[in-house]
Amino acid sequence: MSEYLPGLAGVPATKSNISDIDGEKGILAYRGYSIEDLAANSTFEETAMLLMDGRLPNRIELENFSLQLVENRRIKFHTRGLMKNLPANGHPMEMLQTVVSSLAMFYPGSECLTGDTACNDLNYIHNTTVKILARMSPIVAMWEHIRNGYDPVKPRENLNYAENFLYMFTGKKPDPLLARIMDVCLILHAEHTINASTFAVLVNASTLANPYSVITAAIGALSGPLHGGANQKVLEMLREIGTPDKVEEYVDKRLAKKEVIWGMGHREYKTKDPRATILQRLMDQFIEQKGGDINPLFEVAKTVESVCEDRLAKKGVYANVDFYSGLLYTEMGIPPDQFTTIFAISRTAGWLAHWREQLADNRIFRPTQIYTGEPRRKYVPIEKR
Ligand code: COA
Repeated sequence: MSEYLPGLAGVPATKSNISDIDGEKGILAYRGYSIEDLAANSTFEETAMLLMDGRLPNRIELENFSLQLVENRRIKFHTRGLMKNLPANGHPMEMLQTVVSSLAMFYPGSECLTGDTACNDLNYIHNTTVKILARMSPIVAMWEHIRNGYDPVKPRENLNYAENFLYMFTGKKPDPLLARIMDVCLILHAEHTINASTFAVLVNASTLANPYSVITAAIGALSGPLHGGANQKVLEMLREIGTPDKVEEYVDKRLAKKEVIWGMGHREYKTKDPRATILQRLMDQFIEQKGGDINPLFEVAKTVESVCEDRLAKKGVYANVDFYSGLLYTEMGIPPDQFTTIFAISRTAGWLAHWREQLADNRIFRPTQIYTGEPRRKYVPIEKR
């Protein structure tokens, strides 16, 4: 039992029925539904309910939940004041972590998490879920205006979650295809088994910390470049390459230096990440809609993927979800340093599902360690050192 595996690679940290991955076959499913099926037919609101409740809602349940999300879009005046006082050049993930943690002070009530029994105040759990999920995207969108010295754009009630996010972010009613692509991006990033940020959720949830602290911890874990930041790197790489004719030389040079190609490869998938295939299809649809008037980086991206397939497929390395998402976000008018905050908005659905699953059958996490320090020794007074 005491074998140490760095990064706990391959060590089950929990039992969960929320999502599963078959990396050999390139399958991802939420609650048993394939990601392709959800991307084609669901919405972020419905997928969030599926993740949290374990089943697809009926029409009335979905309408009620969507309405609750709409009613919780407005952000308190004091929160806006707090945001206005944050440094404009801070990273948006740092802003998000700060603001989400502050929400605990505005929305108390976590006393019901007593630990006596599994938390059975379902009202508290549901209401808090709505409060957090509904506020994530307005906070991110508001920050884009506040950090640039403007007042934020007020939310609209007649737009769905993805549309309202883009509306608040850009100040313009979004193009319907781009809004649908954003909706699908939110579905695709909503959950991915036990990764670093979800593990942070489990550990924090197990102490019965308030749910704002739980999500704050997850945002912190996601902010690291080894977890949430790869799509920003992809965009920088595509810009650096510039034109399709430079791709082969760029890729070969990097591979010769044993450097990675951003947006390629995934620890879990040994074939193409199913989410990348979905995004590629949406991108093709978008290119078709735009006619000839497209960002030349789309062509660079396609060439990088085909060159990498030639060089890396034999190692089981293919495009991952981050390869195309940054390009699409750019078309929506979103700057690269906000890509990870979008990931956080979406993953909040999965994080909250894991928070709820942990509470339903909780035991505090308390792993052990293998001590590698000094043997017992005697304290040496300072004058004798
Ligand atoms: N570019 C070039 N080579 C890559 C690669 C990439 N993006 N990803 C993996 N490889 C190579 C490895 O160097 C290794 O080669 P070797 O056998 O000759 O040493 C081989 O493929 C197997 O990869 P492995 O080391 O098992 O991958 P991993 O599971 O440890 O790493 C990632 C997975 C995601 C960390 C890695 O693929 C990566 O850094 N990708 C780029 C960053 C990225 O896009 N991250 C977002 C993930 S969603």
